[in-house]
Amino acid sequence: MAKTQIILSNRQLALKLLDRKLKKLNDDHSRKYFILTDENVLEHCMPTLICNVTELEEADFLELPSGEACKEAEIVTEVWKSLIASNADRNAIIVNLGGGCVCDVGGFIASTYKRGIDFVNVPTTLTAMVDAAIGGKTAINLDGAKNQIGCFRNPIITCIEPAFLETLPENELRSGEYEIMKSLILNGSGIDSFPSGNVPDYTPLIKECVDFKLSVVKADLLDKDLRKILNFGHTFGHALESYYLSLNTPRTHGECVGIGMLYALYLSHKKLGLSRNTFLLYRTWLSSRMAIPHFSLKEVEPILQFMHLDKKNCDEAVLCVLLQDIGVPVIDVAVSDNEICDTLLSAAKI
Ligand code: GLY
Repeated sequence: MAKTQIILSNRQLALKLLDRKLKKLNDDHSRKYFILTDENVLEHCMPTLICNVTELEEADFLELPSGEACKEAEIVTEVWKSLIASNADRNAIIVNLGGGCVCDVGGFIASTYKRGIDFVNVPTTLTAMVDAAIGGKTAINLDGAKNQIGCFRNPIITCIEPAFLETLPENELRSGEYEIMKSLILNGSGIDSFPSGNVPDYTPLIKECVDFKLSVVKADLLDKDLRKILNFGHTFGHALESYYLSLNTPRTHGECVGIGMLYALYLSHKKLGLSRNTFLLYRTWLSSRMAIPHFSLKEVEPILQFMHLDKKNCDEAVLCVLLQDIGVPVIDVAVSDNEICDTLLSAAKI
C-alpha cells in the first residue's frame, strides 16, 4: 500500500507545505478537490486552511454532522451521491479537515468511492494528530457499535498543523493528552516524560507520537499483531465510553482511555509483574487531571457487559494489552470477569 507523506510544522508552515505539494501533484489542474468537514471545523479552521492552501480555493466542500453522528452509513451514502452529482471522477482528491471522526469517515468514503480515490488528512484535534489521521484505518459505525465497517487505506498526505490546536476547547486538548501518554508508555519514554505545566509545547510530543505510530504501522499495517499494542487502555476505555454514554453523561474518548490505562496498569501489576511504583506514578499523574472514578458493585456489572462487546475479544474471553514494563507491552492477555471486577473496584484505591 502507498505510503503517506507526513507534513508536520508549526506556525501554519505545514499548511504552506501542503499547498506546495498539492500544486505539484495537480500541476495540470485536472484534479478536483472536495473538502469534507463538520460544522465546528468549518467555522474555526476552514478560513485558516483556505487562506494558506490557495490550491483549495476552488474546492467544493461537504459539511458533515459533528462527532460520531457523521460515521453513519446514511451520511456516507449522501456524500457518495454528492460526489457523483459534482462529477467527482477517479482523480478527485478528498481533503478531510477535522477530528478523528471526520478522518475515519472521510477515509472510508475515499476508499470506497469508485473503488478508491486519493485523500488527504488535515487533523484539527490533538487526538487525530497523534492517532486517527495516521495509519490508514478508516471506519463507520453500525447499529451504535463503533468502527464496525471499514478498511485500510493510507491518505496520500497527512498534514499536521499544530496552530489548529488553538481553536480547541480545553477538554479536547486534555483528551488528546491521554493518547500522547499512551504512546510515551508504549514507546518506552515513560510516564514522567510527559511535560509538567499546564499547556505543553505539543509539537515535539506530536512528532514523537507520529514517529512511534508510523514505526508500528510499518511493521503491521493490518493490525494482525504488533499494531494491537496501540489498543493499550482501550478495552476498558471503550467500555467506559459506552457506559457513560448509556447514562447520558458522555465522557471524551481520551478521558476514558486515560482511566482505561489505569486499569490496564493495575492488571499489569497483578498479572505480569509490572512494578507497583509504575502503576502508582500513573495514578498520581491521572489524579492531577481528573477525579478518578470509584465504581460500586452495581456499576461494575454494566461495564463488564460492555467489555464483552469489544470487537477484539475472541471466544468470550476479554483480551487486553498489558505491560511487563514501560515499553514492553503484551497483546491478547485474557482477563477473567473476576479480574475485571476486582480492577474496577480496587484500582482507584489500593
Ligand atoms: N488507533 C489505533 C490504531 O490506529 O491502530
